[in-house]
Amino acid sequence: MDGGTMVVTGASRGLGRSVAVHFAQAGWRVLAGVRDIGAAPEHAGVRPVELDVSRPEHVARLAALVGSGPLDVLVNVAGVFDGPGAGLEDARRETMLEEFTVNALGPLEMVRALLPALRRGSGRTIVNVSGLMGSMGLNEDGGNYAYRASKAALNAISRSLALDLAADGIGVICLHPGWLDTDMGRSWSDPHPGRHEKVPAAEVAADIERLLDDPATDREGRFIDHRGAVLPW
Ligand SMILES: NC(=O)c1ccc[n+]([C@@H]2O[C@H](COP(=O)([O-])OP(=O)(O)OC[C@H]3O[C@@H](n4cnc5c(N)ncnc54)[C@H](OP(=O)(O)O)[C@@H]3O)[C@@H](O)[C@H]2O)c1
Repeated sequence: MDGGTMVVTGASRGLGRSVAVHFAQAGWRVLAGVRDIGAAPEHAGVRPVELDVSRPEHVARLAALVGSGPLDVLVNVAGVFDGPGAGLEDARRETMLEEFTVNALGPLEMVRALLPALRRGSGRTIVNVSGLMGSMGLNEDGGNYAYRASKAALNAISRSLALDLAADGIGVICLHPGWLDTDMGRSWSDPHPGRHEKVPAAEVAADIERLLDDPATDREGRFIDHRGAVLPW
């Protein structure tokens, strides 16, 4: 679809920033959630909004700003990673709760807050950016308890949202964006060299537009990669 209205979280850098700029260039009105307004992309069509997804008052303020919409697409990108090599000793209560709060609860609370506006949109799609490390079927390396568990929780949340919101005509894309050429992506090294290829965030932003445009894209909350292939849970 051309030129709808979108909310994207985590727009200060990485994939969120690329999504905000890509869709603004394509003529969308983009509300770009950033923790630090000064870090927002400066681009025609991008309106920065202060948003820490772990702060309910920020989520409520954004929802008030969006009002009854209409809102076409919500892209939940904001995420935190416990770091490469995070092991059992690093899986402390504080880290587990922080990653759950941002990676799993954040998208859920954004959806609940923006539902009235999404119901009035014509695109009516939620894109939850998950990650391959949330797949239990593909976990061959262990570790990263907080990140893996929070993304697995996001996958479960995405599937339930898709089932619950189908009656409203709202679809849910649960996305592995690939190994990104971003701060987070650069902090990780592939334990199986050559298996994964680093993808520029701008390319993945374009892939998200293609997924949104393609009627064959799974919107039932199954776990898919940025090219649309279904992944094991
Ligand atoms: N990088 C990869 O290879 C990879 C692979 C699979 C999945 N993913 C997922 O893809 C998404 C984007 O990753 P990325 O590589 O672009 O990450 P990134 O470069 O580390 O950027 C993370 C973004 O999330 C924001 N953020 C963190 N905590 C937040 C909070 N509490 N509230 C609001 N925003 C918050 C950051 O804002 P600040 O600038 O304020 O810190 C930043 O904009 C994440 O959900 C990640 O888990 C990434």
